[in-house]
Amino acid sequence: MMMKSNLQEITKPLVNWFQKEKRDLPWRHTNDSYKIWISEIMLQQTRVEAVKEYYKRFLISLPTLEDLAKVKEDELLKLWEGLGYYSRAKNLKKCAELLIQNNQKELPRDYTELMKLPGIGPYAAGSIGSIAYQLKTPAIDGNVLRVMTRLHEDDRDILNAKVKTDYFEKLQKIMPENTRDFTESLMELGALICLPNGSPLCEKCPISFYCKSYKNKTMQIYPVKKKETKRKIEEKTILILECNGLFAIQKRPAKGLLASMYEFYNMPNYVSEHDLKKWLEEKKIAYQHIEDLGNAKHIFSHIEWHMKGYLIKCQNKDNIDLLWTSKEELEKKYSIPNAYLKYLKRILP
Ligand code: ADE
Repeated sequence: MMMKSNLQEITKPLVNWFQKEKRDLPWRHTNDSYKIWISEIMLQQTRVEAVKEYYKRFLISLPTLEDLAKVKEDELLKLWEGLGYYSRAKNLKKCAELLIQNNQKELPRDYTELMKLPGIGPYAAGSIGSIAYQLKTPAIDGNVLRVMTRLHEDDRDILNAKVKTDYFEKLQKIMPENTRDFTESLMELGALICLPNGSPLCEKCPISFYCKSYKNKTMQIYPVKKKETKRKIEEKTILILECNGLFAIQKRPAKGLLASMYEFYNMPNYVSEHDLKKWLEEKKIAYQHIEDLGNAKHIFSHIEWHMKGYLIKCQNKDNIDLLWTSKEELEKKYSIPNAYLKYLKRILP
């Protein structure tokens, strides 16, 4: 018979384990919400070891919310230099300015109000709420998702927002009064025991008794992270129009992909040589010769260009309203994106 499991069973063993085993980290010596906020923002995209010294130095320079609101941007960025993701620092300052302008002495003690502030999303609101303010607001980060999906052999894609909200609600229900230790115990378990990449230290885990993944030795499978959403594929045909040693190019629009760069004339979809000839006739472009330059592919973050290229030796430029340039100018003056490299190489020395 299947026993209905109750997640509540993990709360005590987890918190007891944390209280014994927790690392001594600088932000664990304070209840000041300002300091906890700074630590959580630093920790969001940066490893604990790297954050420690930055955190201490930051708070020596800017020990209060007022100091942060007043600091010059250059000084702030210097304090942040090396941590990366600089918008985090700018948002901290924006946030401090907003609060001080509104005569608020500290961050709001409310999840929804916290979320309204610049740079504070569900994770930061959850961690600040539960660590600094005893609010029952779980903080769901990658560590916590790993722990949770392993406990439940949950094969849903963790990039799906529904999975986060689902665990937020589940953890909220089992949060003890000591919200701080509970939140930090889950993070700590993820950092010290429930390690990623198939090497968790299950023999030391205080909640292995509850873990389906441990029971079935399936830790390596979780968490499930589906591959990035597929890039959109755009098929294009690139025409290198050449006339008496000059080449036709055009400027790309000032906004969007490869803004304001130069490129060869191109059209959507793969165009066959037969259709290309028809097109040249329609445009009244006299040509001597067409060379098939083969296919090329270029991958951007959200789009892939799958290209087919032709070199067309034209007899005159009269009907071609493009910018005509020599090889030398093409090399020195115009920036042609790498996406066209294969075709560019065909004509440059
Ligand atoms: N990662 C994010 N927040 C943390 C915290 N408070 N302690 C340890 N690691 C963390």
